[in-house]
Amino acid sequence: MLKRNPTLDVDNEFDYPADTLGMDPQEMRRLGHKVVDLVVDRLLRKNAEPALIAGGPTELMQALGGALPETPMDPDQSLELLAEVALAYQQHGDHPRYFARVPGPCSFAAVLGEWMGTGFNTISASWGGGSGPATIELVVIEWLRQMIGMPEGTEGVLLSGGSIANVTAFLAARSELGRGVAYFCDQTHSSLYRDLLAMGCIDEHMHKLPSDENYCMSIDALRAAVASDKAAGLRPVMVVATAGTTNTGAADPLHAIADLCTQEDMWFHVDGAYGGPAAVTAQGRRHLDGMERADSVVLDPHKWFFQPYDLGICMVTRPGALERCYAMSPEYLKDVQATTGAVNFGNRSLELTRRSRAVKLWMSLRTYGAERFREAVQRGIELAEFAERYLRQNPATWEVVTPAQIGVVCFALRDWQEGEHAACAKTITDSGFACVSSTMLRDKSVLRLCTINPLTTEDDIVKTIDRLAAARP
Ligand SMILES: Cc1ncc(COP(=O)(O)O)c(C=O)c1O
Repeated sequence: MLKRNPTLDVDNEFDYPADTLGMDPQEMRRLGHKVVDLVVDRLLRKNAEPALIAGGPTELMQALGGALPETPMDPDQSLELLAEVALAYQQHGDHPRYFARVPGPCSFAAVLGEWMGTGFNTISASWGGGSGPATIELVVIEWLRQMIGMPEGTEGVLLSGGSIANVTAFLAARSELGRGVAYFCDQTHSSLYRDLLAMGCIDEHMHKLPSDENYCMSIDALRAAVASDKAAGLRPVMVVATAGTTNTGAADPLHAIADLCTQEDMWFHVDGAYGGPAAVTAQGRRHLDGMERADSVVLDPHKWFFQPYDLGICMVTRPGALERCYAMSPEYLKDVQATTGAVNFGNRSLELTRRSRAVKLWMSLRTYGAERFREAVQRGIELAEFAERYLRQNPATWEVVTPAQIGVVCFALRDWQEGEHAACAKTITDSGFACVSSTMLRDKSVLRLCTINPLTTEDDIVKTIDRLAAARP
């Protein structure tokens, strides 16, 4: 039986100060409660605050900088300055009318988990040095695996986000299959191209394909590229597919890509950093059908799984591939290495010393239950469908360019002129009412709503679209 809260039988239990640098315990409690109040107060009134506020560099530096504080400053004032200035002047991805890029609608139980993990200065590097946090990490990877329908035995590691999680998978793929050509398309997130560059891929090993008319990877173009690279003496090793692109929410033809990867002995990677969580719902699972066949999948729970920044996950279905790539055993770590059946997470990526990012996910899944997560993801999918219907009701003003796909809809003003979409997005964002971004679909400028915050109402969407129309220059 595991002993809870193990303590030592020592006689000086309370002799040490609580805080390393000397804060009094009563003061610690008072300030801690103040932090909770500041956070909850903001959550209660966020709807009435701007969705994004940007300040000028000089003013912000004046408010927050100054001489190095050699002597103590008032922590109450510092906390207030954080709440009112430093943390106010940013994009509020959890605001119900934050529709730009990818929102970050994080949940409070996850914040509590994050605070606990930080408060206990938790570490998940080696089993011997962090068996509790390592177990939590194993548990949440398994829960997530079940929720998105990856095969049993899938392994994983929690990281800071999609950029790092994707490169973690790419390096594992390279260590399994060696160097060769990686295929991706013009809708693949630009950080994945940067990942390949950072790994030292040479130009001829990075084959970028044009997307098809639906902004998906074209399986015909992929087959042709693989054949022509082979004919040129190159070795195709990996296809990088996307399960929900950032631009349109589209999913690449995952089954067809998986078939080709099997046939050509290539690694099948799926970037689900944006869309992967949609697979927790039946509708999203259909959209992402085939993701479960991937050798590696990346998700970003700090986007659509209601977690505070930062949290990405790299999952790999080839047992042991992460350890074969990343395991190391320096002399000074030998006494904390995993025993049989345990995992040293420091051996599953380039991060050795790492906080336990699993605590927040564990805490929030236990607090709300998986079903609440499914409902919240489904709500995001439906809100984009509502936005599409509303846009189609106003055909004189709007054209729907790409339909609602797992939380994203792209649209254009009728007869738009160069710069108009960006100007409309800027006007509404500057007003603070909502934050909306524009993007380019190849050479076409569009406005885009990403509707993954379950707190968003239909009225928020109607008013945002109407204000965008009214902002036409
Ligand atoms: C599809 C996709 N992949 C990768 C990334 C990069 O993820 P991160 O910003 O967490 O590093 C993003 C970010 O928006 C994304 O949308």
